Amino acid sequence: MKNAHSLQPFWENVEKALRLQHYFQRMPMHSLSVSGYTIHLGALAEALPTLWLQGQWSAIAVVCDENTYMHCWPLLQPLLPAHLALHLIVIPAGEAHKNVHTCVRIWEDMLRAGLERSALVINLGGGVLGDMGGFCAATFKRGLDFVQIPTTLLAQVDASIGGKLGFDFGGVKNSIGVFRHPIAVYIDPAFLHTLPERELRSGFAEVIKHALIADAAQWEALRQAPLESAVHNEEVILRSLRVKQAIVEADPYEKGLRKALNFGHTIGHALEAWALDGPLPLLHGEAIAAGMMAEAFLSWQLSGLPEADLEGIVQFIRRIYPLPTLPETSFEQLIALMRHDKKNTGGHISFALLPAIGQVQVDSFADEAAIREALCWYNTVL
Ligand SMILES: NC(=O)c1ccc[n+]([C@@H]2O[C@H](COP(=O)([O-])OP(=O)(O)OC[C@H]3O[C@@H](n4cnc5c(N)ncnc54)[C@H](O)[C@@H]3O)[C@@H](O)[C@H]2O)c1
Ligand SMILES: [Zn+2]
Repeated sequence: MKNAHSLQPFWENVEKALRLQHYFQRMPMHSLSVSGYTIHLGALAEALPTLWLQGQWSAIAVVCDENTYMHCWPLLQPLLPAHLALHLIVIPAGEAHKNVHTCVRIWEDMLRAGLERSALVINLGGGVLGDMGGFCAATFKRGLDFVQIPTTLLAQVDASIGGKLGFDFGGVKNSIGVFRHPIAVYIDPAFLHTLPERELRSGFAEVIKHALIADAAQWEALRQAPLESAVHNEEVILRSLRVKQAIVEADPYEKGLRKALNFGHTIGHALEAWALDGPLPLLHGEAIAAGMMAEAFLSWQLSGLPEADLEGIVQFIRRIYPLPTLPETSFEQLIALMRHDKKNTGGHISFALLPAIGQVQVDSFADEAAIREALCWYNTVL
């Protein structure tokens, strides 16, 4: 844990970071309401002051990883109120650290900082950081208020909204966790300018998913726009956010409709977990991109997705992502991993499939033979 006095070396980054805020062609602020909290989309400097009207906290703990400490903390730090005790908790970056050991480190730092239940936790980072920092805040002393400030595209359009928190356990993604909502989410696309290109593409997979399941017009727009302009476009983020917001609002605890967000994820999560142990780990969105291809095939086979749309999806995803070939020897393990998916019911592997672009059918089941065929087909179209 670092205390406020060790921040001096980062002041030189503050000016640079603040300049980034002006890089964007800024849209007016947007506020979306979901499950009783507000998602603010726009400049952090403009939006964050509303937070201090929402409550009175005894202290602030900012949780970041080593990268967001370097690149994002300088943007946030000048916006925090000077009168509150400030504690910084910096954890190692990356999915490989999304485990109970890192949570123990966060809880230990919270204890050492003497955080009371009246403290506020601010999670500054991507989906890994937000899921874990949120989980630790939600469980420490039976729950502290927390705010999500997502700094990756993936976290901005997806992970920071909906209240799912947790970490990987026993080789299974997100197998330990809780539902708990933040008190607010602040999305500032200016953070994305320091995000590595590979991470941007990874996050873009969730933008593609939202378009495919619920926004056919956005899908057409994405297909026509050059990738560079699509990923740096606040309007694209807003439309994508609206899909997630509407689905989460309709089904906050994943009893039904929310399973729609699982398109690409039954196979994608298995690929992500499988690759974690291999020499070339996949980023979440890369795994989901491959998963969307295989599940688009299942959609064509089982749910009536027109063949032309299947081809459109394959061409678009292939253009953007380097995709792994799957050795046939991995199929058993992949199917075993799919069996662990929390969305399965009655022992069947459950999918969200597309009957058409912009529509989704939850609780679609595919047997092992169909899944194997989809994985074989995926290898042939790479
Ligand atoms: N809770 C949910 O509903 C939900 C939904 C989707 C995904 N997820 C989870 O999200 C995770 C993936 O999230 P992610 O892709 O954001 O990964 P991540 O949090 O690991 O961030 C990716 C990398 O980018 C770095 N980084 C973050 N912001 C940066 C910035 N602005 N500039 C420079 N570097 C930056 C991070 O340090 C990390 O190295 C997965 O664990 C997945 O399970 C959760
Ligand atoms: Zn995802």
